[in-house]
Amino acid sequence: MNKIDPWEVKEVKDYNKLMRELGVDDFSQFPKKLKDAPLEIRRNLVLGHKDFNKVYECIAKKKEFAILTGLMPSGIFHFGHMSVINQVIYYQNIGAKIYLLAADLEAQLTRSIGQKEAEKIAIEEYLLNYIALGLKKKNLTFYFQTRGPKKSQEYANLSKLASAKTTFNEVKAIYGDITPQKLISALTQTADILYPQLEGINTTLTPIGFDQLPHASFSRDIASRMSFSLPAFTFHKLIPGLQGPNTKMSSSKPESYIDFSDDEKTVEYKIKKYAFSGGQPTIKEHKEKGGNPDIDVSFLWLKYLFEDSNKKLKNLEEEYRSGSLSTGELKEILIEKINKFLIKHNMKREKAKNHLAKFLKN
Ligand code: TRP
Repeated sequence: MNKIDPWEVKEVKDYNKLMRELGVDDFSQFPKKLKDAPLEIRRNLVLGHKDFNKVYECIAKKKEFAILTGLMPSGIFHFGHMSVINQVIYYQNIGAKIYLLAADLEAQLTRSIGQKEAEKIAIEEYLLNYIALGLKKKNLTFYFQTRGPKKSQEYANLSKLASAKTTFNEVKAIYGDITPQKLISALTQTADILYPQLEGINTTLTPIGFDQLPHASFSRDIASRMSFSLPAFTFHKLIPGLQGPNTKMSSSKPESYIDFSDDEKTVEYKIKKYAFSGGQPTIKEHKEKGGNPDIDVSFLWLKYLFEDSNKKLKNLEEEYRSGSLSTGELKEILIEKINKFLIKHNMKREKAKNHLAKFLKN
């Protein structure tokens, strides 16, 4: 069996196999039903779900639902972190209540990051970029795990009471070898996921990466034993790191990602030097045989992050496959898109600083 360790993220090669083995449902019927959804949903980066039908019904019938998700304040913010927040902003715009938490407790317990450092990263790296990307204060609760949300006492108790609803055998079956710190983090995450129900919202969706799947199973098991409604989840693939379609962007490996403070020259350098190419070794061969966009990281970044127009993306794909578009040209297109995005984004990020205080008030 394909066990996932949420604290030691590995690259996944075969998502379909993983979904079959771990009982995750296929999301493919939903993207066409969700109007104006972000690229992550439209281009099938979101592959799997649990109980999304319940959420879809709320969207269709304009009934109340909440999004709850967390961020791990462990390093700089890079393009690999966009998938979650773009979905959160989309759901906020169509009327969802948003609960967003900084996992500062988990960062201390499992990554040895101090409280002050975790707070600084959560605010300066994550929250500011989230606001710049379009997160609004309306209908939003933001909290730190160490302080809890509005009903902080009930939240703190929930994670402790949840411990009575599991066993070491179950925890080992879900997480494998687990330390006391990791167990506390898992119970805290369950309290996070169920918290909106303490405020009376029973339909909740947690959009997360596949690496977080064990937490989804654990929180659903506990929910059913504590008379909570089962929380819904969507699971997305990781956007590939620069080294190849099955690599990840890793904060400890600057050549694997572009971060939001990279300047124009650095962006150009990193893409030209590191972005894995699905093209042929020589221009002549490329013209004859064509390239493979499915494994080309520049193409995949355009697909999942930067090229909004389906028609333009399709043209690029066809030209690349036929060989009339070279890797160098494809990279130039991506570099220009990233730099344009970052210039605008950094202006918005400066403005976001003026709004920060109200996001931190509960
Ligand atoms: N464990 C998550 C991570 O590593 C962070 C997290 C904490 C979280 N609580 C959560 C994510 C609740 C989703 C829902 O990124």
